[in-house]
Amino acid sequence: MKIGVTGATGHLGRLVIKKLKEKTSANNIVALVRSPQKATDLGVEIRAFDYDKPEALTAALAGIDKLLLISGSEVGKRIVQHTNSIEAAQNAGVKLIAYTSLLRADTSSLSLAGEHVATEALIKESGIPFVLLRHGWYTENYTASLANVIALGTLYGCSGNGKASAATREDYAEGAVAVLTTEGHEGKVYEFAGDEAFTMSDFAAEISRQTGKNIPYVNLPEKEFTQALVKAGLPEAAAQFYAGTHISTEKGDLFDAGHQLSKLIGRPTTSLSKAISAVL
Ligand SMILES: NC(=O)c1ccc[n+]([C@@H]2O[C@H](COP(=O)([O-])OP(=O)(O)OC[C@H]3O[C@@H](n4cnc5c(N)ncnc54)[C@H](OP(=O)(O)O)[C@@H]3O)[C@@H](O)[C@H]2O)c1
Repeated sequence: MKIGVTGATGHLGRLVIKKLKEKTSANNIVALVRSPQKATDLGVEIRAFDYDKPEALTAALAGIDKLLLISGSEVGKRIVQHTNSIEAAQNAGVKLIAYTSLLRADTSSLSLAGEHVATEALIKESGIPFVLLRHGWYTENYTASLANVIALGTLYGCSGNGKASAATREDYAEGAVAVLTTEGHEGKVYEFAGDEAFTMSDFAAEISRQTGKNIPYVNLPEKEFTQALVKAGLPEAAAQFYAGTHISTEKGDLFDAGHQLSKLIGRPTTSLSKAISAVL
């Protein structure tokens, strides 16, 4: 049973490969990567797999039974890239495709949702047995800005009292590994999210508690928050995107109380407090 993982040199992909090796022989794992030179430390077979090079993808999937398609990172290019990967999986006779989609992609107001909905449809139309791993936000999306927030002494946002049920990449990687190494997941749509939901005020309060500094959360109107991000050096489009994620959070699109991820991995997802202390 060969398991192929795309994007295996990325943050999530590396964790998936590491955790797969704990569950199955390294001989059963194939890292499908855009940049083979970055993958030499993975300790599994490496094959070149660039979503933008459709002519090489079918051969790269020869003998792969289960494929984890990790969504590409180039927003706007992903429908073509994912189409290329799904067509190759069809041609190569892949028996199961698992795709990292977005939490409740079909109803989410997040601007990212469209590409995920389109990819889910392409997978369903392909006729390949599938599992959808719809991911909520990574906790790392928040903790990545810890140093800046602490330096600034204030956390700004525009998500009001909206809660995000975030989980760490490690939690999501374990979810994918559970799906890839056990049976009975065909046709399932998993809404993967963290057990704990938090607001930006909760995030600021936890940073304050752990640093001993008073770091308040200041909620701004969307326009003002966007302008503040641009002033801080973000390109306009990125600032609008980021502020938009806060608005979707306020609408509840990143909240989930289903606990499907923790049920599957057999442990609670990583707490916000632990994720912050790991970075600090
Ligand atoms: N739910 C969330 O909060 C959240 C947050 C961020 C991202 N995401 C999504 O989840 C995915 C995995 O996250 P991550 O943190 O692991 O992102 P990441 O570290 O940026 O990894 C993305 C991976 O995709 C690969 N890739 C990009 N373009 C490719 C192409 N044309 N052909 C083949 N591979 C390509 C990259 O290859 P190289 O190593 O060669 O660059 C990299 O390995 C992202 O791509 C994005 O779709 C979700």
